[in-house]
Order: sequence, then structure tokens, then C-alpha cells
Amino acid sequence: QELELKLEMLEKGGFEHFMLKEIYEQPRSIKDCMRGRIYPEEGKVQLGGIKDYADKLKNIDRIIIVACGTSWHAGLVGEYLIEEYARIPVEVEYASEFRYRNPIITEKDIVIAISQSGETADTMAAIEMAKEKGATIFGVCNVVGASIPRITHAGVYTHAGPEIGVASTKAFTAQVTVLTLMAFYMAQQKGTISSSKLRELLTELDCIPEKIQDALKSNELIKTISAKFKDSSNCLFLGRGYGFPVALEGALKLKEISYIHAEGYPAAEMKHGPIALIDEEMPVIFIATKNSSYEKVISNIQEVKARKGVVIAIVTEGDVEVKRMADYCIEIPESQEAFLPLLATIPLQLLSYHIAVMRGCNVDQPRNLAKSVTVE
Ligand code: G6P
Repeated sequence: QELELKLEMLEKGGFEHFMLKEIYEQPRSIKDCMRGRIYPEEGKVQLGGIKDYADKLKNIDRIIIVACGTSWHAGLVGEYLIEEYARIPVEVEYASEFRYRNPIITEKDIVIAISQSGETADTMAAIEMAKEKGATIFGVCNVVGASIPRITHAGVYTHAGPEIGVASTKAFTAQVTVLTLMAFYMAQQKGTISSSKLRELLTELDCIPEKIQDALKSNELIKTISAKFKDSSNCLFLGRGYGFPVALEGALKLKEISYIHAEGYPAAEMKHGPIALIDEEMPVIFIATKNSSYEKVISNIQEVKARKGVVIAIVTEGDVEVKRMADYCIEIPESQEAFLPLLATIPLQLLSYHIAVMRGCNVDQPRNLAKSVTVE
């Protein structure tokens, strides 16, 4: 038994849980995901897995992204990126809804199915349906050789390595990385981005692994903050723009592993409902980094403070304005807005992790959840 324990410790690479190990692996997993695919000096993206469709991508009218759970959140980030850079309209659908609602699909559509495991039943059924109607299907999967990569026409693997923790961490950031690359690739094919702009973006993307390493340095601070909120029964996550899917994913992570009721919302929608929940017992986590929605988010923070909510803000390094208002601030390095999800997700993963551990939860295998959901 002692040997078994030692073996398990070895597998966890000295970390207490797989989830923590996987959170810390992200600088490397993202690097692996980009390897051989980006050429910052030339301002070029190469995606071997979808290169046969390079011409088709020049003329498509629409992309539909289908996924479940955390992968669906990555899909939302993908929508923002593809629409911004490649100017192709994107719809993001829960696979379970899409498969049963008789959606309009034509041979001209490209469907991107995102799945860490490559085995999710609803996502597979959505693919089969779209395939029957003539759409071209791309997969974004982590597990090489899984069912989904076998039934899709083409795809891009995330190469994050095996993910053992049931709640997805490094697979999510790898999915977001692949979708970023796909958006840039499509923009390159369609000519909606200049090569100098692409050079600038890729140079910065290349530095994201180091910036994640920096973001991980807040671990001790996050642990201290977690201790203050471990007994909360509700929690609200708010963000705008690229910060919105990050808020959804932050809330999902917290509820999955700590069993605290958490909701993610677009910050501006707060006034249409969640604001009614705010009192001195309610922690509100804001993605309040310096980007195009910074000022708007600041007013949302003021609205929460006016109602005595407790604010925890994810801010850009060196921020002073939010620091004056928020109760707690966690800094992340500055970056292009498009890469915000890759950085802002990190402190939220750590926050959920520490809160769950402090509540005595089984973080790697939360109750009632499965790593791969092969039934509908
Ligand atoms: C389960 C897992 C989640 C995952 C979801 C979709 O619910 O617990 O972490 O996001 O399935 O899985 P997939 O493998 O398709 O990404």
C-alpha cells in the first residue's frame, strides 16, 4: 500500500492533486499546442490537420461550433476570435440542444466540434447529424485516436497531454489556443488580417506560456483569498467581451469541484437579475483587466460595491483604479485582448482549487461528475 501511495505521488509529479499538477502544466501544454504551428517572424500559421480545406475556408458563409461543458466555453471564445479576425459568422451551440432541434445546416457550413475526451455522446450525435446534412466537420480534441477525431473530416489536436482531473483545466486553455490558431489561420486564408498584424499577434502569443508562468506566481495570494471565501454559499462571476466566457468557465469550475453555487454572467446583464442577489455575503468576481471594456467594468464594480457586495478582481499588472474599489485584487500580466482568456482563467482555476481543497472536497473526482460522458 505504501508503494501504491508512492506511485500515486510520482504520477502527480509531487503535487497534492492531479488538478493542481495540470494547472501548473499549462505553460508547457500551451507551448506544445503551438509547436510547429506558429511562425511569428514570418507572420504565418500552419495547421496541417485542416490544410486540405484551406480553399474552402476562403468562401464559407458560416461556422457552427458544437460542444458540451467546459469545451462549450472554449467555443464561445472561439466565436469571438473567429468573428473578430476572420470575419466569418459563428454560432455556438450546446451539442445536446443542436442535435434535437432540427437546425438549418447546409453543405456550405463548417462545424467545429470541440471535445477534450473525443467521446462525448451528445457531441458525437451532433457531428453525425451535421455530417448527414453535408457539412464539413472539424474536430478539436485532446485524446488522439478517440471516436470524434475518427468521425470528423479534419481537425486540430490540442496536444495538452492526458488530463486526469475531472474538471478540465489544461485541456480548456489548449482548446482556446487551438481556436486562436484556427481564427488566425482562417483570417490568413481570407485575407482579413495583414501580415504585420499577424506577426504582432503571433509574437505575443508565443510569449503567453511565460505570462502564464507569471500568473501562477499569485498562487499564495489566491490561497489566502480562498480561505476567506471557503464558506460562501453563492458566488457571482462577471466579465465583458473576452472576459465573459472566462466568467462562465470560472463559475463552472467553482461549482464543479467545491459545490458552491456559482453563476457566470456578462457584467452588463447583472442589472437584469443577479444584482438582486447582492449583499455583504455575496462574493463577486470580476474580470477587470485593462482592455476595451475596462471603464464599463469599473462602473459595474461600483454598482456592486454600492450594494455592499465583496469584490475580488482579476486585474492587469500595475492597475491602480480597480485596486481602489475592489476588496481583493489578483494581477495577471498585460496582453492583447484576444489572449485574455488564456491568462485570466489561471487565477480562477487556482481559486476554485484552493476553495474546494479547504472545503474537504475531492477535487480530482467531484461527486456525480464523470470525465467522459458517453451517455446522453
Ligand atoms: C464532462 C467533463 C467536463 C467536460 C465535459 C465535455 O462533463 O466533466 O470537464 O467539459 O464533459 O467533455 P469533452 O470531453 O467533450 O470536452
